[in-house]
Amino acid sequence: MNPLLEVDGLSVAAPGRRGTTYPVRDVSLTVEGRGTVGVVGESGCGKSTLLRAIAGVLPRGLRAVEGTVRVDGREVDTRRPSGEVAMIFQDPMTGLNPVMTVGEHVAEVPRRRDGLGRRAAHDLAVHLLQEVGIEDAEHRVDAYPHELSGGLRQRVLIAAALSGSPRLLLCDEPTTALDVTVQARFVALLGRLVEDRGLGVLYVTHDLPLLGTMCDRIDVMYAGQVVERGSTREVLQHPAHPYTEALLAAAPRMDSRRARLVSIPGRPPVLLADTAGCRFAPRCPHAVDACDAAGPLGPGTSGHESACVRRDELEARSERGVAWR
Ligand SMILES: Nc1ncnc2c1ncn2[C@@H]1O[C@H](COP(=O)(O)OP(=O)(O)O)[C@@H](O)[C@H]1O
Ligand SMILES: [Mg+2]
Repeated sequence: MNPLLEVDGLSVAAPGRRGTTYPVRDVSLTVEGRGTVGVVGESGCGKSTLLRAIAGVLPRGLRAVEGTVRVDGREVDTRRPSGEVAMIFQDPMTGLNPVMTVGEHVAEVPRRRDGLGRRAAHDLAVHLLQEVGIEDAEHRVDAYPHELSGGLRQRVLIAAALSGSPRLLLCDEPTTALDVTVQARFVALLGRLVEDRGLGVLYVTHDLPLLGTMCDRIDVMYAGQVVERGSTREVLQHPAHPYTEALLAAAPRMDSRRARLVSIPGRPPVLLADTAGCRFAPRCPHAVDACDAAGPLGPGTSGHESACVRRDELEARSERGVAWR
């Protein structure tokens, strides 16, 4: 059977005055089917660009120049949206037009694409709002975005995303603007939709411990590339790339009352095409000469993949106490 999503060797170019940069460089990843795959990395590492390319909604100035995106075995055009893929953006306000009611948002696609009538669109909107756990859906359906809390707005966006009956849902840091309890309820809702609808979800965030609570597999992204990939358990308990270790160390400790965000020293590099070797090496406490010639992802001792030349050593000594499912 074909995987639900198969990204193969995808590169996205941003032509600029001082040369072309590549926010996404030779990225391959897979969502097999029902379930959630997480993509984690610092701000600026190319997460949003990756999702936008898959959804066919790259902003002006960015273009997929290499590689393919397949949904259920069929190649999709990265220059236009496809019906099988829906995306939820970081800021719930950007996805919502202030002069449209909740109901108009939620039923927009079926009305436009399938020519659904007013009454049927209204009923569908109420039904979808109920499905995403919005109480009092009959009244909320006529509300405007500014009348809703951030958590409710994000639920409205999910309801709108579901209206086109997508098989794959792309989530771009959808809980960043929400407080922790609202975030937890949102993550629970996603889990329920994965079960009930058989959805595949690709979930992007900078919050690695959060992925530990909701994902089957994790891809770690640095400077436009995937540098480590494996089951959630392997990646969190036996990280095999120093960048993943740094992300774990930077995350607020789940068991600490004084959650403190420690940042990773140094900055991600400019994303030129011809950077040879490991892009993390200049910031890496474990760097050695061989890093200059580091290759792409390869399997480590446990079978999960890392691009680090010292992956076996790292994996062998790492023991992390981060919560995972
Ligand atoms: N429209 C654009 N034109 C040129 N460069 C862009 C554009 N959008 C994003 N970039 C660059 O792509 C890189 C990755 O950005 P992004 O995908 O938003 O990262 P993330 O979502 O991980 O924070 C950044 O260095 C950013 O400057
Ligand atoms: Mg982003």
